[in-house]
Amino acid sequence: MQKILFATSEVYPLIKTGGLADVAASLPRALLKLGQDVKILLPAYASVLEKAKNVGIKEIAQLEIEGYSVSLRQTRLPGTKVIVLLVDIPEFFEREGNPYCGPDGNDWFDNHKRFYVFARVAELIALDQVGLNWQPTIVHCNDWQTGLIPALLSLHPNHPASVFTIHNLAYRGLFSYQAFAELNLPAVFWHHERLEFYGQMSFIKGGLAFADFITTVSPSYSKEIQRPEFGNGLDGLIRYRSDAVAGILNGIDTDEWNPGTDPHLTCNYNRRTLGNKTKNKLALQEELGLTVSSDIPLLGFVGRLVDQKGVDLILEQMNQLLTLDCQLVILGSGFPHYEKALKNIAEQYPQKVAVTLGYNETFAHRIEASSDIFLMPSIFEPCGLNQLYSLRYGTLPVVHAVGGLRDTVFEQTLESESGEANGFVFHGATAGELLAAIQRAISLFKQKDRWKQLQLNAMSKDFSWDASAKEYLAIYEQIVSA
Ligand code: ADP
Ligand code: GLC
Repeated sequence: MQKILFATSEVYPLIKTGGLADVAASLPRALLKLGQDVKILLPAYASVLEKAKNVGIKEIAQLEIEGYSVSLRQTRLPGTKVIVLLVDIPEFFEREGNPYCGPDGNDWFDNHKRFYVFARVAELIALDQVGLNWQPTIVHCNDWQTGLIPALLSLHPNHPASVFTIHNLAYRGLFSYQAFAELNLPAVFWHHERLEFYGQMSFIKGGLAFADFITTVSPSYSKEIQRPEFGNGLDGLIRYRSDAVAGILNGIDTDEWNPGTDPHLTCNYNRRTLGNKTKNKLALQEELGLTVSSDIPLLGFVGRLVDQKGVDLILEQMNQLLTLDCQLVILGSGFPHYEKALKNIAEQYPQKVAVTLGYNETFAHRIEASSDIFLMPSIFEPCGLNQLYSLRYGTLPVVHAVGGLRDTVFEQTLESESGEANGFVFHGATAGELLAAIQRAISLFKQKDRWKQLQLNAMSKDFSWDASAKEYLAIYEQIVSA
């Protein structure tokens, strides 16, 4: 049995800005199910303390680190048996806004210090120096916020093995040399083979250079990031470490995302009662002021409104899209210029386009269930969870062939008449390619029998964690015994 300290900056339902939170909740649960001893380590943001109150929080240690008083608290992930250790440093984490930036959208000025001290706490727990009488065999780190942990562990002769998972290489955790100088890190870390990155400090390099093993969240992305096009300047380092790099496809929480039991839906359905899916669509159309009709294909989009998600491709082909017999429902938040452009279109075409800005879990579930077609034209996509939720809800995705999208969505071609087809795939991130794929989807939507077959293909696929959690476990066992 492995003892796993799973360090993350977000975990659903305590705090979430994106897919990392979903994975940080569902992978530890799957590991627990495999008989492993896993504890999540999370910053105690104000909202986390508020939400964990109902489950119960107790203080388990008090630490003094670099002049900061740290209270280590323990709770459980709501609705599960997974233990969550909370790093409570009020001056760092109890703030309005999101984990990484303030209400004005700017990164917190002291992010380097916040996640450095968080890493120091992880280091002490990993070395069993906080009095928990529990030493992990594996420290599993996620994204740049935890990148310093493998680097700090490397300074100790007998440290637990570490895995670093890249959820998104575009966020490299970059800070100035001045910021590096403010942290109590050894001067030797300022080197291009360690934390230094073209004159700046990169937190993610700590994970990439020092972890015993690097994983990323889909097989295709693990190859893509070894090429300059997707490597964000780090492809050389990842190629150098390629013997210790693997792509493991994310699973999903099949209880949380189950159209048969989802409490957010107007009407639950499954493969045998697929006809009931339409009731969700009609209710949503009515509520949003769209023309109410089951025959008009409804296209859905849920996600962060940032460049990665291909929002500009959607905007670029909007005029042509508006000439087609279809509707568009969008939920998201992000860059103000995208928010504004989408809102303008919705105001001009209220019966065809509905845009909701902000973050809304219930609405995200309802869009997944109500739409016929789900748009994910991402420029790059390490894994992507929304296309997996869509597939499970019989909502066929239109995706750009990158990363996890390429690994999970397959279009039927003349050559491949297999039962694998479950969506629409375009190659080349252009608005024209996206529009052509949408047109293929809309024309197939009219062929009811073929459409239903694709829906059944999509809904039959197993996206649970069962297989992927075992792959992580195999890596843990390999590096612990190395
Ligand atoms: P990423 O992590 O890059 O944002 P993923 O597809 O992996 O992309 O995961 C996004 C997750 O965040 C999904 O669970 C999705 O439903 C959720 N999500 C994104 N934007 C919103 C929103 N505005 N409201 C509710 N949920 C959202
Ligand atoms: C990141 C990626 C997304 C992935 C998620 C969870 O946010 O952008 O593709 O699904 O992490 O691994």
